[in-house]
Amino acid sequence: MCGIVGYVGSSRAVDIVVEGLRRLEYRGYDSAGVAVPDGARVRVSKRAGKLVNLEGALADDPLPASSSAMGHTRWATHGAPTDPNAHPHIDCHGRLAVVHNGIIENFATLRAELEAAGHHLTSETDTEAVAHLLEDACEASGGDLAEAMRQVCRRLEGAFTLVAVHADAPDLVVGARRNSPLVVGRGQGENFLASDVAAFIAYTRDAIELGQDQVVAITSADVTVTDFYGQVVQTREYHVDWDISAAEKGGHDYFMLKEIAEQPKAVADTLLGRLTPDGRLSLDEMRLSDDELREIDKIIIIACGTAFYAGLTAKYAIEHWTRIPCEVELSSEFRYRDPIVDRSTLVIAISQSGETMDTLMALRHAREQRARVLAICNTNGSTIPRESDAVLYTHAGPEVGVAATKTFLTQVVACYLIGLYLAQVRETKFGDEVAIEVDQLDRMPAAVEQALETMEQIRALARELSDSKSVLFIGRHVGYPVALEGALKLKELAYMHAEAFAAGELKHGPIALIEDGLPVVVVVPPRGRDALHDKIVSNIQEIRARGARTIVLAEEGDDTVAPWSDTLIQLPKVPTLLQPLVATVPLQIFACELAMARGNDVDQPRNLAKSVTVE
Ligand code: G6P
Repeated sequence: MCGIVGYVGSSRAVDIVVEGLRRLEYRGYDSAGVAVPDGARVRVSKRAGKLVNLEGALADDPLPASSSAMGHTRWATHGAPTDPNAHPHIDCHGRLAVVHNGIIENFATLRAELEAAGHHLTSETDTEAVAHLLEDACEASGGDLAEAMRQVCRRLEGAFTLVAVHADAPDLVVGARRNSPLVVGRGQGENFLASDVAAFIAYTRDAIELGQDQVVAITSADVTVTDFYGQVVQTREYHVDWDISAAEKGGHDYFMLKEIAEQPKAVADTLLGRLTPDGRLSLDEMRLSDDELREIDKIIIIACGTAFYAGLTAKYAIEHWTRIPCEVELSSEFRYRDPIVDRSTLVIAISQSGETMDTLMALRHAREQRARVLAICNTNGSTIPRESDAVLYTHAGPEVGVAATKTFLTQVVACYLIGLYLAQVRETKFGDEVAIEVDQLDRMPAAVEQALETMEQIRALARELSDSKSVLFIGRHVGYPVALEGALKLKELAYMHAEAFAAGELKHGPIALIEDGLPVVVVVPPRGRDALHDKIVSNIQEIRARGARTIVLAEEGDDTVAPWSDTLIQLPKVPTLLQPLVATVPLQIFACELAMARGNDVDQPRNLAKSVTVE
């Protein structure tokens, strides 16, 4: 949510920053802006709307060459997405500029204080107050921007990443973070600040994590990190294990299409190296001891959006394999209901970005209650794994499309690995049983590849249904979270009404929605579980009898559903618990294709942002 880039070095700074913003645009696209020091002032260019509007403005009225620059792409919180509310924001004299990601909760008080002291604020944003606070603090600290930033941060409440430049320090960019992401990119004779490594990966893969409540000052040669009181702190450097090609569309029209196609590899990479030569499951990143894991008597999974549905899917497998009760809860609800959590609770926080504020806050609440927290995350160095007791990384590579695809599959895989690991440690499954399940998981990249073969059939179906007003999704057991994820994708991308129900619940109310021609997607479990399978076949007949247009996803060779299917989509044969990994794929394609047919921007759906760093 909101992308920030800062640069100091010998290249044309504004170009580097705009290119970085392009790579961060998935974080928000309500407006974009850049600032450079220019003699006695800072020059700012900013425009409402997508980055392309800013690029147009810069083409008409270029900013001067400079060795430092910073920029911002916005997901609006305070103030409408207009030119004046776009970042960067400047002080009274136009000598410094600041960009911000997050929400400053005490901004109304600060703003009133600043206005009373004679400052002139022109936007509706919380951020502008920081520019004016920095103005006063710079004056008080003899023009030391980093010290001014520290003083200002101590006064701010809420969540923020801030980056600032000052006309008097043309070779310096200063950043700060609390509860919002900021990483440093270390180059040769140049350094970067960004919300995400994608912004600078074309120049360097060496990054530095910034911790909570830290201020960083970069010049072309140095990176200095302190706490909010000026104490120099130790930082952790790491090497990013993917390169620029992973952050490009690679011949696809949209990142989402590329990311859907990458799923077999994402699943394979997440599984890689997990089995020891003697057939035992080993999880390198698991920093919880076996003894600690034996003490666990309850699991709570917390997550948002698609990650939440990955958690819902995992509950079935985790409880089945470990016999430990497992709850799944939306992060945004968790801490407000006084959950029963103690030292013997394992909280699993699932987050692609590792920055989702709702999940971070839920995680902190869990830790305050002494729970052990295990993160499942796709972003090395992000806040959620850093604040957890252990982490299991999903090796999906960067996901740029705002709607999650490959990370859903890898989150399910990671949860399953944890379930099996717990089963192994607690001996609720014999070693050879665990090895059989891992072997089944190892076959999934090929099965996902096969699921991708439904692409053309789904595309044709989506084009046919592009004028539909609503689509329903139903499923049972692990098919239910798949239905929920299918409906979410359709809402996000096609802006269509879509709802998912547990198939057994239809008769308790939602069946009243069925009318002639209403498309209903049905996820049919494999035939191995006959009770489950037969029940859903009855459900298909019930809705068809009432006029629904049935779109049925069933395993290949399942001829029992054909008579009741207007469209039959064949899935690879896999065990029931693994079916979500193949059944989700056609539903992703369906939503993507419907969005394209309706002329929507697949990678940047309206009103959304990929990484949501506000509560
Ligand atoms: C946003 C995104 C979703 C994502 C959710 C959780 O709402 O639009 O695609 O599933 O955040 O994100 P996380 O990074 O925590 O997995």
